[in-house]
Amino acid sequence: MKLSPSHIRSFQHNVFAYYKKYGRDLPWRKTTNPYYILLSEIMLQQTQVDRVIQYYHRWTTKWPHVVDLARADRREVLQEWMGLGYNNRAINIHKAAQKIIESYNGDVIAAMKNYKDIPGVGPYISHAVRIFSGNEDTVTVDTNIRRILIHEFHLHKKISDNELWDIAEHCLPKGKSRDWHNALMDYGATLLTSRKTGIRPKTQQSPFEGSDRQIRAQIIRHLLNNVSVEFSEICSRFSIEKNRLDKIIYSLIKDGLVFRDKEVIRLKV
Ligand code: ADE
Repeated sequence: MKLSPSHIRSFQHNVFAYYKKYGRDLPWRKTTNPYYILLSEIMLQQTQVDRVIQYYHRWTTKWPHVVDLARADRREVLQEWMGLGYNNRAINIHKAAQKIIESYNGDVIAAMKNYKDIPGVGPYISHAVRIFSGNEDTVTVDTNIRRILIHEFHLHKKISDNELWDIAEHCLPKGKSRDWHNALMDYGATLLTSRKTGIRPKTQQSPFEGSDRQIRAQIIRHLLNNVSVEFSEICSRFSIEKNRLDKIIYSLIKDGLVFRDKEVIRLKV
């Protein structure tokens, strides 16, 4: 796909003009500490900005350095995560901190350059951390940026990730990567919304109420307050049939959250 230089220039101009006027004042924009930015990106991946802010403040106060999080107790990490959802992210960030200390001597950026080694970190987050902490001349594409590019350049909704990343590269104003990506986040989140553009995310969150996710969260919450729980007790407590619970417990084991000894379920700490 050929993008005209004048189109790219006017796109950059519009995005930056919007940012100057309506840019959001977010706590992770006040730091270049890669560990804090990694924390914020993991929290923001499936949770709204408003909800993340208080958790971000609490986590960075409680565990101000990546080594503090690496040494934290798993139970406490989960406790602090409760309410943010998708609890396997808590396990991932804890394991990621441990890996960054053990294999990268605490160097978060070095770890991001080798992101396949780091639990819960993929191309989007690794590049976001490098951009927001180091202003590196590289790009990242999340659901917001994908939607903006599709809308701006009238792309097919099924465009591949490789092509999208390529187009994002062409649009990057060199030397301004941090501001550019912050501006894009705001342009996508508050102006070119999914509702306004009719462009839906590639994968959408299913409703929480009555979902397996809700039951997973209830089990973890219960295990944070109790040493263990019997399989049959969960069935009756949460009115759930045995087959469904079997699968849910299996998924919790797979994510490293719990272990099962015959009928007894415990938190994996
Ligand atoms: N969503 C994901 N990353 C974000 C960021 N850094 N700022 C605002 N929203 C985001």
